[in-house]
Amino acid sequence: MSVICVIGTGYVGLVTGTCLADMGNTVTCIDIVQEKIDRLKQGILPIYEPGLEEMVERNVHAGRLNFTTSYSEALKDCEFIFIAVNTPTGDKQGGADMRFVESAARSIAQELDHYAIVINKSTVPVGSGDLVTRVIRENLANRKVSFSVVSNPEFLREGSALLDFQNPDRIVLGSSEPEAAHKVARLYLSLRAPIVATDLYTAEMIKYASNAFLATKISFINEIAQICERLGADVKEVAVGMGYDKRIGRAFLDAGLGYGGSCFPKDVRALAHMADEAGLHPQLLHAVMDINHDQRRLVITKLTSILETLQGKTIGVLGLAFKPNTDDMREAPAIDIIRWATQQGATVRSYDPIARETGRVALEREGVDMTKVTFCDDAYAVAEQADALVVVTEWNEFKSLNMKRIREVMREPVLIDGRNLYEQSEIRRHGFVYRGIGRGA
Ligand code: UGA
Repeated sequence: MSVICVIGTGYVGLVTGTCLADMGNTVTCIDIVQEKIDRLKQGILPIYEPGLEEMVERNVHAGRLNFTTSYSEALKDCEFIFIAVNTPTGDKQGGADMRFVESAARSIAQELDHYAIVINKSTVPVGSGDLVTRVIRENLANRKVSFSVVSNPEFLREGSALLDFQNPDRIVLGSSEPEAAHKVARLYLSLRAPIVATDLYTAEMIKYASNAFLATKISFINEIAQICERLGADVKEVAVGMGYDKRIGRAFLDAGLGYGGSCFPKDVRALAHMADEAGLHPQLLHAVMDINHDQRRLVITKLTSILETLQGKTIGVLGLAFKPNTDDMREAPAIDIIRWATQQGATVRSYDPIARETGRVALEREGVDMTKVTFCDDAYAVAEQADALVVVTEWNEFKSLNMKRIREVMREPVLIDGRNLYEQSEIRRHGFVYRGIGRGA
């Protein structure tokens, strides 16, 4: 078993550190925010992720998982140092902000007094492995400490991150030092996943290309949805029919309100930016982003085509988080939809099973007029006196709503199913005016 330090207790860092501890390693997670560490020590997590709280508690209790703000404490005797800090969009062109990666590398250099392998888990622009090496080397000054750098991008999905960590499709390891990559591979041995061993640049690119491809699948099916709607086909069934082809696969062909979250929007922007900077014009990536942006507008277009105007109307919004099983509001379609609806004179009643507080904070931060937004305790309360309901996030509990009851309390029975959750004939049977995404049939 190994001694590991994980830098950053955000989504990736906390999941990675906790899962590595659960595999029997001794892990110290470090964060520069004292309050975050104090709360983690009390078992209070900064994010919601199913199963994570219990796993943290179990491993802290077993003495395998520790939290600190001190680099000297975290780096003591450690063999592996994971950098898992965030790399947000840093400029208008979409380039990644490397400030946190650089300062992590600086802090490693200042405190490291023995050989260790530095592993980059953050999604970083191609070439960042070299940057980390350079920053560490410069800050070691004349101290003779050796280290290796390995790129090991993560492919966790929010909401199923623990399962994804424990059952990876592949482990990607990039390094110019095969021996170091080999040692990192041993950490993951018990997961029995294929290992893709490659150079640093290629490993970094695999992460961007994977996220961009998945985003492309989503924008592709959303474009097909538009065509379906016009020509009278049902995109849900089209996706099923396409998905049986092994070369295509059914996953990520759910038409809806487009992708959000902390990864796809940022990573597609960053990849397009890298290509632009290299003098290329990545047409497909730009189209993927444009389609994604327009997809959210569809809700407003559909609402106004039925209600004629949003002025003075009450719109019920079911779901705020960018996807189910998370309270993450980053780049959530709900923000734009609520902003546009309120700007057009509507009031909004909303409900999310988990993202109520994060939703409120995000809407406030994004400048939404909060006097026009109410947060309700369940979907039925949202429906009360509403002129239309919009399903924005496909939480499980929305799948089994009592539609008769919903219909009875609404002022107008209009349902915009932004995630194609319902059987349209069934909903119409209850007297609703129903509009899904790409369901012309
Ligand atoms: C994504 C990737 O799936 C992970 O592999 C990757 O590690 C992660 O980004 C990251 O780079 O950190 P995540 O953002 O948690 O994970 O969520 P996904 O489940 O991939 O969904 C992303 C967005 O696409 C959501 O807004 C979801 O609603 C949307 N989506 C997904 C669709 O609109 N249609 C689909 O068929 C699938």
